Amino acid sequence: MLQLTPVDLKKEKIETLIVPVCEDKVIHTDKTLSDLIRKAKQLKEFTGASKEEVTFYSPSGIKTERVTFMGLGKRDKIDLENLRSMAGKAVKGCMGKGISEIFIAVPDAAKIKIDEADILTALGEGAVLGNHLYRKYKEEKKLKPLKRVHLVVEPEAEKNHGKLLQRVESVCSGTIQAREWVSTPSNKKKPEQFAGLIKTAAGKTNLRASIMNDKQLKEKKFDSLLAVAAGSESKPRMVILEHRPLGAKKTVALIGKGVTFDSGGLNLKPSGSLDYMKSDMSGAAVVAATMITISRLKPKINVVGLMPIVENMPSGSATRPGDIVRSYSGKTVEINNTDAEGRLILIDAMAYAVKTYKPHVLIDLATLTGACVVALGERIAGVFSSDDELAESIIQSGAKTHERCWKMPLPDDYKEMLKSDFADISNIGGTRWGGAITAALFLSEFVEGIPWAHIDIAGPSYSKKESGYCGPGGTGFGVRLLCDLLENL
Ligand code: BES
Ligand code: ZN
Ligand code: ZN
Repeated sequence: MLQLTPVDLKKEKIETLIVPVCEDKVIHTDKTLSDLIRKAKQLKEFTGASKEEVTFYSPSGIKTERVTFMGLGKRDKIDLENLRSMAGKAVKGCMGKGISEIFIAVPDAAKIKIDEADILTALGEGAVLGNHLYRKYKEEKKLKPLKRVHLVVEPEAEKNHGKLLQRVESVCSGTIQAREWVSTPSNKKKPEQFAGLIKTAAGKTNLRASIMNDKQLKEKKFDSLLAVAAGSESKPRMVILEHRPLGAKKTVALIGKGVTFDSGGLNLKPSGSLDYMKSDMSGAAVVAATMITISRLKPKINVVGLMPIVENMPSGSATRPGDIVRSYSGKTVEINNTDAEGRLILIDAMAYAVKTYKPHVLIDLATLTGACVVALGERIAGVFSSDDELAESIIQSGAKTHERCWKMPLPDDYKEMLKSDFADISNIGGTRWGGAITAALFLSEFVEGIPWAHIDIAGPSYSKKESGYCGPGGTGFGVRLLCDLLENL
């Protein structure tokens, strides 16, 4: 979909050109463009301020039918996220107008003081991700995604960055895959179905894929996971995907929470809190989509993705508050709240990963707590880690991709709150305060000293409203971050 294309605007006939414009400085080298921008700025309605837009039809001096100028604000305020959003909005604005391809004039790297590869990556990401619509169950399809987006560059840039856009397309298609799974309604992604969807997608790659069914999970004593699945008519699954390049030394295990619907179980959630609980499998979606993406990016490390997948429902067979189970690790857990179910499936997957793959690094992603959303809002994930360096790498990758993460504490003394009178540990802290922290501390009891990080994505994994380069629904938060991390670990 993306292409680097040098264009002589005076000579070549094109249909739609998007021109990012700065409020205070010239950011293009092309003289024809600068002249046009000057004309656009003569209009009182367009100054180049952020979010402003104006369109010229068949302006004199070039052979373009439609030129849309998009404001980026002051030059020193431009960052990669502005560029992503601008490209996303440009693409969204063209859908439904019978346009199938657009050209975006890429700002000059030296003039906006950002590395050229980063500019192209950001524009490419915004364009591809902004072009995605989830409307599998909608009859009306007025909006048509674009077929091609050209990034207009100098001929040298075309030579220097040939491979870059291929990577951008892979990573974005992974993000889109995760978004689609998260947006899928729970009646179309029961655990067996969701596991099947992942296996089908992985079948097109060279990943090793395996699925454990409920019988195998019982035989292997995944009793903590099974306790969550007990109330549902849909049987649980564990999907495992493996990327094993020749000669790789390090192994990273990624674990993703896959609750296809979280009703809370017998500790039933109140109506308002049931909204969007179809997205409670976002961690698993992100891990699966990342695995599929890295099978194309081929980083030289072993990566194992484990996705415990269950539905959390109340019924006569559901787990009761106060029930005690022996988890896969051997530790017993008193389940004092059936709505704290994510941690129960994660600890079995984590203990299995530790025992089976002996990873050097363990990272879990989970829509784990409402408390994390209270702390950080809907756009920032919480990172909890026993390893400062690992946490910093995650935060750095997230800063690059604008999947923002904030480091949260793991205070040892808070572990007291997880004490149980009757089992080795309780699945909830005694109070409602610090819920994201006690959830992370609960997980920390099952990592056996392996460098581990937990990313609580309850806030940013889903969005009711659309934004720059994302529609309403699943956001795919984490896929771009993890790809960057795995390539640089
Ligand atoms: N899936 C929820 C967390 C969640 C909340 C995700 C809001 C996305 C948006 C999780 O399983 C849950 O219910 N957690 C409880 C834990 C509590 C019972 C200790 C919570 O956060 O209230
Ligand atoms: Zn829950
Ligand atoms: Zn949940």
